[in-house]
Amino acid sequence: MILTFSLPREWLGALPEEVDLVQRESGDVSPREWLLKEVGSADGLLCSLADRIDEEVLGRAGRLRIISTYSVGYDHIDVRAARARGIRVGYTPEVLTDSTADLVMALLLAVARRVAEGDRLVRSGGWREPWSATFMLGADVHGKTLGIVGMGRIGRAVARRARGFDMRVLYHSRTPKEGVDAEYVSLESLLAESDFVVLAVDLNPDTYHLVNYDFLRRMRRSAFLINASRGKVVAEDDLVRALREGAIAGAALDVYEEEPLRADHPLTRMENVVLTPHVGSATVDTRRRMAEVAVENLMRGLRGEPLLYEVPA
Ligand code: DGY
Repeated sequence: MILTFSLPREWLGALPEEVDLVQRESGDVSPREWLLKEVGSADGLLCSLADRIDEEVLGRAGRLRIISTYSVGYDHIDVRAARARGIRVGYTPEVLTDSTADLVMALLLAVARRVAEGDRLVRSGGWREPWSATFMLGADVHGKTLGIVGMGRIGRAVARRARGFDMRVLYHSRTPKEGVDAEYVSLESLLAESDFVVLAVDLNPDTYHLVNYDFLRRMRRSAFLINASRGKVVAEDDLVRALREGAIAGAALDVYEEEPLRADHPLTRMENVVLTPHVGSATVDTRRRMAEVAVENLMRGLRGEPLLYEVPA
C-alpha cells in the first residue's frame, strides 16, 4: 500500500508489520508524478486532501481495492469513478468534529474581538497609549445571532458551543434536521438576521461558490463570515469586493480557493480579516485519532470487511 504524505510512525500503530508500506523518503506531501508512478502496483492507498484522486490516477490503479483518505472531506476524490472500478473509499468523520468546531469558535471570537489585529499591533510597537475608552473596539459575541449554513456533525457542534456563549442560533440546510437545538430558517432570513454566518457545508456542485457577491450583499453590514469548511464554497474575488465596499464587517477563514494562500493575496492586507492555514483538525489528539481511523479503514478495505466509515454513495 502507499502513503502519500508523512505521518509519525507511531500513529500508524495498527498497521501490521507485514504490510508493504511505500512512502517517499522526504517531503510532507508526495508530488503527483510519484503517485501516478506508484499507484499502479498498490492495492491500498492512504491519501490526504492534498492529493487529487481523479480518472488519471484511477486509470493507472489496476490493483487498487481501497482508498482511505485522512480527512472528513472527500471532494478531492472522484468517488463515482472509484466505485465504478470496484474501489471503496473510506474517510475520517466524527473524530475531528469537535476540534474543527473549536477552531470555528476561535475564528469567530478572533475576528469579533480583533485578536489577531491586536497581536500584530503589540508586536509591531504600534500600541502607544496605555488605555483608551475607544481603542480597538470590537463586536460582542454573547447575545448575538449566529447563522449556520449546513447542519451536519460540525454544524451541530458549533451550535452547541454557541449556546454556551448565549447566542441565538439559526440554521439553514436543504431540509430541517431532527434534534438540533437551533431554529431552522430560510437562507434569506438567516443572512438578514445573523451577526455571524458560519459555513458548515461540504464542497459539492451545489455549494461551489455558494457565497458570492449576492450572498454577501444580503448579509448585514455589521456581520462577519466564518469559513472552516472548503475554500471553494466562497468566491474569493466576490468576498474581497464585499469587504472593500464594507458590505460586511469582516471575515475569518481557515480554507481558500487555492492553498496555500498567496502571501500577496488581497485578503492578507485587510485588518478585518483573520486567516489561518487550514488547521481545523490540527490538534495532536485529533490527528492521531484520524490516523487510527484511516489505517483501520485501509486494513478493513484490504480484507474486504465493512469500513469504519465508508463515504456515502
Ligand atoms: C478535512 O478533514 O477534510 C479537513 O479539512 C482537514 O482535516
